[in-house]
Amino acid sequence: MGAIRKVLVIGSGLMGHGIAEVFALSGYRTILEDVSVEALTKAKISIEKSLERMVNSGKMDKIKRDQTISLISFSQDLAGASKDVDLIIEAVPEVMEMKKEVFKVVAKEAKPDCIIASNTSNMSITELSGIVPEPSRFLGIHFFNPPVVMKLVEVIRGESTSDEIFEQILNLVKEIGKTPIRVNKDKPGFVVNRISAPEGLFFSIVLDKGIAKPEEVDAFAKSQGLPMGPYELMDYVGIDTVVHSMDYYAEHLSAEFARHEVLKGKMERKELGLKTGKGFYPWKDGRASIPQATPTDKVQLMDILAIDVNEAMRIIEEGIASPDDIEIGVKLGLNRPFGPISVAQGLSNSEVKSKLEAIVEMVGCDYFKPTESLIAGRMKEVISSGPSQPQKEKAEAQATADAGTPPPAPAAPSPQQGGSPVEVRKEGPVAYIELNNGRLNLINASVLDGLDQAISSLSKDKDVRVVVVRGKNGVFSAGAELSQFFSGNIDFMETDRRGQRIFKSLTEMPQVTMAEISGYCFGGGFELALACDIRISSDSAEMGLPEVTRGLVPGWGGTQRLPKLIGTSRAAFLILTGERIKGMQAMTFGIVWEITTPDKLQDRVKELAAKISVDVAPTSVKMAKGLIYKGTETAMSIGLDMEAISMGVLFGTEDIKEGVVAFMQKRKPEFKGK
Ligand SMILES: NC(=O)c1ccc[n+]([C@@H]2O[C@H](COP(=O)([O-])OP(=O)(O)OC[C@H]3O[C@@H](n4cnc5c(N)ncnc54)[C@H](O)[C@@H]3O)[C@@H](O)[C@H]2O)c1
Repeated sequence: MGAIRKVLVIGSGLMGHGIAEVFALSGYRTILEDVSVEALTKAKISIEKSLERMVNSGKMDKIKRDQTISLISFSQDLAGASKDVDLIIEAVPEVMEMKKEVFKVVAKEAKPDCIIASNTSNMSITELSGIVPEPSRFLGIHFFNPPVVMKLVEVIRGESTSDEIFEQILNLVKEIGKTPIRVNKDKPGFVVNRISAPEGLFFSIVLDKGIAKPEEVDAFAKSQGLPMGPYELMDYVGIDTVVHSMDYYAEHLSAEFARHEVLKGKMERKELGLKTGKGFYPWKDGRASIPQATPTDKVQLMDILAIDVNEAMRIIEEGIASPDDIEIGVKLGLNRPFGPISVAQGLSNSEVKSKLEAIVEMVGCDYFKPTESLIAGRMKEVISSGPSQPQKEKAEAQATADAGTPPPAPAAPSPQQGGSPVEVRKEGPVAYIELNNGRLNLINASVLDGLDQAISSLSKDKDVRVVVVRGKNGVFSAGAELSQFFSGNIDFMETDRRGQRIFKSLTEMPQVTMAEISGYCFGGGFELALACDIRISSDSAEMGLPEVTRGLVPGWGGTQRLPKLIGTSRAAFLILTGERIKGMQAMTFGIVWEITTPDKLQDRVKELAAKISVDVAPTSVKMAKGLIYKGTETAMSIGLDMEAISMGVLFGTEDIKEGVVAFMQKRKPEFKGK
């Protein structure tokens, strides 16, 4: 297996220049080739700007920037550039003949052991591989836009791709810091685009049948927390692009995809959306002007979820990808908080089946008919089928290789691909519990498991004096993961109780707990922060309890802790309106103790935690916390009695002696927690 040292990316457009930057960032010598000198100039400027942004935000230093730039060379000579490279990735426009012409040149010039790939979003890898002399060394490497930012890469096996090359590229993708998913069969749309294709068909038919107006559907989508509705998104992507991909699916997946009368009319009138200034909506300065509308009740979130589950079932049944890879692909490729597999886990077979039957009835399209295994009631079985074949073989080989060593503890499903959704880190007497669950740090069953474990192990750790709860990626937590709301009411109630128990155990920790609030802090995330003793926030952080706007109530202690913290008047306003507030207002209300600018937040929390960890007696903290929180639940006279008893207990500790002696001797105390 030849090592990959030098990479050629053909086509320096939107995707190609980003792919070249990704490889250079990982230290690979990279050639970026294009027929157009203007495209190459633009690509060079874009790469330089992107690296500059990383320097300015402190993500890289200038030395690394210069090294990265020096690794990329630019070329207009396809034949010459193809000669001496180990991997070639083609990223020219999505036109089969154009791609084939490129591969004809590559086929003549590339080294015999060169691996050749296409970044195509849709086209047949097997058909393209027919052009090169060694189809076993040909495959799809599908990056997402923009490649530098998007973690996901679909690695697609053509009919002739060898196992060895497939595995080598999967490893390479990991090495360049991306998350690969295995696409074991070369079918239209692969995984991520295949999941979104029927959603597009659904919204196209909704339009053709006049079921709801675009602005009503978009208003509904936004009311569900999506940043853009489906029609605004079509305008953004380009209505011509949407029609072309539907035509492609009509030819290769199902004739039903040709149902796009309204969209096609718009394309013919050049009402393409953002790029022509008019689509469903007028566009100016990159923004759509969308008429005010009441959210439609004709389309429901469950429609889309059921359509996604149905398509995921087809993908599994056709042997294209495993349930795990579909889930990861949809989360990372479509930036969604959950994928169709976790939705299917929370729903019953009959719920999905009857929803799909209702959709077929509403839009009159057979593509939405439930799959055979849904009809046979086998949904749960299909979605819990193991990894796809090659992965399974590898796992078995690994298990054999590891025989004799103790099996690793079962890990909670990791949404961060390899990382745990809750990470614990200790820096001397200060411990950090860090949520690490995607972009928004949503709280789901795995996060609750992680919190539970972290709280119970740190509670016993005598060396830890302060525990800071924070979120990775500049977001504390945007709330609970919606997919858990698709379970039955008994499961739902149990999830709620579980969260309550865990958050209560956080308030009962013997250490001082601090919430470091950045970015979003909503719903369950806000309740997690409320369960800490002290909250420090960035001034731009947004907080709130939006549950009532979703037909819920705060269920992890929000209705109880918030009124006790800030009084019923303010708490009632926040709970009953779902209004969001920012750091300053949260400080005025007494929710947070202090605010800082976002760039100073971590340092300030670190400084305060370090100070508390040495200045304060652990024995006093433990007693005082009990008095504060139990005191809110008991009569004053009992609380005062508890206070006196605590004083008596503390009197016998070493910490009280050390505290008093250190004070008299004008030195810092050294508390032992005894
Ligand atoms: N745009 C996306 O969001 C996206 C996402 C994933 C994959 N893709 C796929 O990536 C590929 C490229 O898409 P894009 O959006 O970067 O296109 P693009 O139009 O932005 O760039 C294509 C580049 O290829 C160059 N080119 C054309 N013919 C060439 C030739 N014969 N040799 C060398 N260069 C040539 C063009 O000058 C242009 O710079 C397509 O297959 C597309 O389906 C696109």
